[in-house]
Amino acid sequence: MIKYFYLISLFLILNIPSAVSVDRSNFKTCDQSSFCRRQRKYKPDTTPYEVDLSSMKKIANGHLQFVLLNTVKPQVKFQLDLYTLEQNSLRVKINEVNPIRKRYEVENVLITEPKLVDATIKKTDNNQIEGRWSIAAKFILNAKPFRLDLFTNDIFVISVNSKNMFNFEHYRQKPGTNGEAGENNNEDNEDGMWEETFKTHHDSKPYGPSSIGVDVNFLNFENVYGIPEHADAFSLRSTHDTDPYRLFNLDIFEYDIGNPMALYGAVPYMLAHNEQATVGFFWLNAAEGWIDVLNDKLNTKTLLSSLTSFFGTKSTNDNSEVPEVTTHWMFEAGIFDGFFFMGPTPNDVFRQYTTLTGVTPTPPLWSIAYHQCRWNYNDEDDVRGVNNGFEQHQIPVDVIWLDIEHTNGKRYFTWDTSKFPDPEKMQDDLAAYGRRMVTITDPHIKKDDGYHVYAEAKSNGYFVKTKDGSDYEGWCWPGTSMWLDYFNRDISQWYSQRFTYDNYKGSTRNLFIWNDMNEPSVFNGPEVTFPKDIVHHGGWENRDVHNLYGMLQHGASFHGLVERSHGNARPFVLTRSFFAGSQRTAAVWTGDNAAHWSHLKIAVPMLLSLSVTGISFVGADVGGFFGNPDAKLLVRWYQAAAFQPFFREHAHIDTARREPWLFGDDNTRLIRQAIEQRYSYLPFWYTLFYTQEKNGVPPMLPLWFHFPRDKNTFKTEDSFMIGNGLLVYPVTEADTNQVSIYFPGENTVWYDIRTFTQHNGSETALINVDMESIPVYQRGGAIIPQRLRKRRAAMLAIHDPITLVVALDRNNEAEGELYLDDGQTYDYRQKHQFIHRHFTFKNNELQSTSLDPTAKFETDAWIERIIIHGYPKNPTRVKIHSGDKQAVPLHSYQDTTQTLIIRRPGPSVTADWTLTIA
Ligand code: NOJ
Repeated sequence: MIKYFYLISLFLILNIPSAVSVDRSNFKTCDQSSFCRRQRKYKPDTTPYEVDLSSMKKIANGHLQFVLLNTVKPQVKFQLDLYTLEQNSLRVKINEVNPIRKRYEVENVLITEPKLVDATIKKTDNNQIEGRWSIAAKFILNAKPFRLDLFTNDIFVISVNSKNMFNFEHYRQKPGTNGEAGENNNEDNEDGMWEETFKTHHDSKPYGPSSIGVDVNFLNFENVYGIPEHADAFSLRSTHDTDPYRLFNLDIFEYDIGNPMALYGAVPYMLAHNEQATVGFFWLNAAEGWIDVLNDKLNTKTLLSSLTSFFGTKSTNDNSEVPEVTTHWMFEAGIFDGFFFMGPTPNDVFRQYTTLTGVTPTPPLWSIAYHQCRWNYNDEDDVRGVNNGFEQHQIPVDVIWLDIEHTNGKRYFTWDTSKFPDPEKMQDDLAAYGRRMVTITDPHIKKDDGYHVYAEAKSNGYFVKTKDGSDYEGWCWPGTSMWLDYFNRDISQWYSQRFTYDNYKGSTRNLFIWNDMNEPSVFNGPEVTFPKDIVHHGGWENRDVHNLYGMLQHGASFHGLVERSHGNARPFVLTRSFFAGSQRTAAVWTGDNAAHWSHLKIAVPMLLSLSVTGISFVGADVGGFFGNPDAKLLVRWYQAAAFQPFFREHAHIDTARREPWLFGDDNTRLIRQAIEQRYSYLPFWYTLFYTQEKNGVPPMLPLWFHFPRDKNTFKTEDSFMIGNGLLVYPVTEADTNQVSIYFPGENTVWYDIRTFTQHNGSETALINVDMESIPVYQRGGAIIPQRLRKRRAAMLAIHDPITLVVALDRNNEAEGELYLDDGQTYDYRQKHQFIHRHFTFKNNELQSTSLDPTAKFETDAWIERIIIHGYPKNPTRVKIHSGDKQAVPLHSYQDTTQTLIIRRPGPSVTADWTLTIA
């Protein structure tokens, strides 16, 4: 503990962020985690597991059940459940039959019971059954040895246990218990099976070994993605020479980049993509996990003859090799509960995953604007000063944040009244500028009988327990603390109620919430978190459920904010820790990054990994949390983050102040420009978040999502797309005046949003950059709505006019959408109060039609400008019709860039209209 603070101060006083890096000895390697050690070395030549096909039972249409045996231990039986699901998805569950202790099955993640569809089952021979459950999706279950092969459009894409690594550690008696020898004395007594010590921390392991390992192999794929959170490449690296990627929610102090260490959150979901298909594998398991990734070559000769379809006409007798990504998944507890998403398109896979785990509800408009945070804004004057700074420098901002120091001694839901004597007035004053506030509420509760939250929770028995049944105590910011047991629904609801205005004194409807340290971080715990053997509601050990804790906290906060407004106002919650499904109730940021160019650069792969696994509202601290960025780094960071989903400046308490106006006029101007760009694109972002709510496709995307056949994009992580409209290439090098940008898509044209210069798809271009440049390109074929009038806050612009930027493709066509509503309530759902427009440009006509004619939203917003890029010539006349009205708006044309600008065309954004160019 002392060391922890000492290190923070030392590095920050010296201001040498490049010298800081994580103390790896605080965190386990695979070899120091006994189950990972055992599973990683498990590589038998043949698998001892066999499916007893004669045991097959049809439980329901779409649900088959089998007995699975380990031939080395025939006395232990497993049940294999195979569920063919709608949308080309498959679920496979494997659990022990009559275990001596019930194994944990994850709750609170799936939003619905997956819908079964019947499969046509064929017994191909005595050793295999084949099931087809849609035109595109087929499985082959091989009995002896146990192996499952999956096909999409008859192309072999995934195989399970083809490397024989399936290894299910059943619960067993401890050797020597009650005078018994155990099942196999040597094997069951392996070091670390029954207790384990890491540094000074002892894990009592009362139930012994319980881990599960399995290989899941992606055939003919070279790239896999996902399994956040790691500060590492987007296309996952081979772990041949390193530890496996780890999934265990931890507060890693000063994390390093380019390695597979665990971070704050975990989503056990991986996608694979090639030119033919996109597929996904999600193992619903909340225990500690490790995943090896190997890029292999597979000799086609070794494949089964039944798989000829994979090779088309090619003979399987030659010695040709195909790529394969072999992945080895290892979890410490729980069951095997695997979901396979068979795509075949990227769009399909996103929908398949989010149908089960949910989407991000359209965030309040202000929350996708710019946020100003710092540990800490010291008092009310400081907050007002910062607000005035934005006013004076005419920089838009929507939210000012307060970190832990605003509380009375880190007692959340309280205020340090000497510094914040009138928090309601402070929030009202901000609200007068159209702005909001976010305060922090961490999950540790200070042990102090005088603290009402603690006292009530203590007397109700609401805290997480040690293995002996007493309240678990640990250290965090407030000193000795306890943690609420959110696994108990009553406790979670009680926590939600802390957010009512009565309970959270000094809060107003303009105050929203930040949940930090919720891995949870326990300064004196093993690996800075909960011991594995502490006990949650239902008797589950932390070992079983660890990775869910953060999500349960931020879920309770979200529901608290909904209830506080009687279901009317959309909440905003930011969380550091997360799990699969966190997207439903929180935005996520990448935690304590540092003021380095390398951390600016890693933000893109980290945010993409989150996005493709459903966590769509994501960002990284602008400027880097630790250390002091120089002006250049800070400006570049603003420019990058202005085009990333969650946009917040944040800094450590010991860093120098870094509000946007503290770096000289020129840099203030550059930062203002970046933030203004963000505001100008808010209608586009908002539309993308809404469509994400409908179809599960996040706003920030890898290039391959829209260019799935362009191989050059499969490893791209220096650029990304926003929707189907913008390609962003953040400048992440300190001293560069040129960047090399790959523009995807044969026959696609890209328009520089600043100079309107055109670039051809399928080509790499060297682009000159200076400090003004934010390389962003609009795809030819996209129509993007913008708001170009300047405002101090996003919510003040909701009725402002819209500019449509039409970028024509090679056929002189384009399309796009606009979604608008009140920006903050659930009226869009409950009262259908919104507008959702569709714009198409074709045959020299631009049309606006409604995508949902039953929806209504009162607004004065109108179309004040239409900019058309790539229009071949100066037209003679432009006409617009709306209902029975006609107008001939003024236009101008720039030959050099082929840009046609139509001024004040005039129709309301709610109207149907057609613009004709002749
Ligand atoms: C750790 C968080 O990651 C950081 O953002 C925050 O400022 C500190 N905790 C203090 O609350």
